[in-house]
Amino acid sequence: MEKLRIPRLVSGIQPSGRLHIGNYLGALKNFVNLQEEGGYDCLFFVADLHSLTEDFDPQKKREQIFSLTADFLAAGLDPKKSTIFLQSLVPAHSELMWMLNTITPMGELSRMTQFKDKGGVLRMVSTYTAKEGTLNIPDERQNSETNVGLFDYPVLMAADILLYSAGVVPVGNDQDQHLELTRTLARKFNRKFDEVFVEPKPLHTPLPRVMSLDDPSKKMSKSRPEGCLFVDDEPEAIEKKIKRAVTDSGSEVKGGQDKPALNNLLSIYSNLSGKSIKEVEVEFSGRGYADFKKSMTEVICEYFENFRNTKAKLMNKPSTLTKILEEGSAKASKLANKKLAEAKSAMGLGL
Ligand code: ADP
Ligand code: TRP
Repeated sequence: MEKLRIPRLVSGIQPSGRLHIGNYLGALKNFVNLQEEGGYDCLFFVADLHSLTEDFDPQKKREQIFSLTADFLAAGLDPKKSTIFLQSLVPAHSELMWMLNTITPMGELSRMTQFKDKGGVLRMVSTYTAKEGTLNIPDERQNSETNVGLFDYPVLMAADILLYSAGVVPVGNDQDQHLELTRTLARKFNRKFDEVFVEPKPLHTPLPRVMSLDDPSKKMSKSRPEGCLFVDDEPEAIEKKIKRAVTDSGSEVKGGQDKPALNNLLSIYSNLSGKSIKEVEVEFSGRGYADFKKSMTEVICEYFENFRNTKAKLMNKPSTLTKILEEGSAKASKLANKKLAEAKSAMGLGL
């Protein structure tokens, strides 16, 4: 296995809709901090192959890819400091995924929370135990509509990470299960074939899970836009959404175990204003939800003002975005192809 000069870091986001404040506070903000700290060789990518696993309009995919690339740049990612690339321009990802598929137990994939949440409940109707182990037989009638890509999603993610020998992966904590599988597959491959892959660790922000504005029991997610605050929302939209955001019973701006909605709003406020939750509670003591929400709207509008303007300008420059993705993808391909060749050789593939 090659020795890296500085540790490598990789992460991706799907171009499947507008970026929300959960994506920003759970992932993108951290990408920028890590890039600026300079302690890692950073690769960030647009996970367009992953985004095919959910319903999509092919006419809109290009726009979504550009929009996410513009989000990356507007937030502060810099192609001079990080490699920014498009997953589908690096075919090694799909190729390694296939190889990893052959060492991935179906049982592990069917237990993934994200797979189950997205409708792919793979219920087993019968279990057959043989000398070699247990074989679960899925009920085909229940799963005829679920696409195989959704099931295999974590294996493509493992390939994304293992190809670059990434030691750390900055993500929200909803991805921990996928990271654990990546580690398992790296270990299994190394044991079975040869020491080729590095086991990665997740890296979380202080706010690894932002909850939905309309339902604090669900994580904010692009697949439920009604609960999202988007990072490029205009001030009027922000005001409306914060006004409408659900709160808990009572009127005091004070978090607590029985205040999931308020805890969520307080965490967002604290993160964007740089004040601790305690400081925010003191500031609003005796002032009620309406005052708090008004101030929160101002904090959000101001925080993302620069971002909104920069993104709007970038969206008018598709050729700049294309060039960044092409150059980044060429750089990523070099690294990925080298690792892919090692993995193929370990498996005895090729001539
Ligand atoms: P979504 O679930 O909205 O489709 P993605 O799957 O594209 O978002 O996630 C991109 C990144 O944002 C991942 O690192 C993920 O962990 C993080 N993320 C997504 N939703 C949240 C959330 N509600 N809170 C914190 N981080 C999140
Ligand atoms: N699965 C991630 C998500 O839904 C996106 C992703 C794809 C990713 N490949 C990755 C994140 C590799 C980190 C590393 O958020």
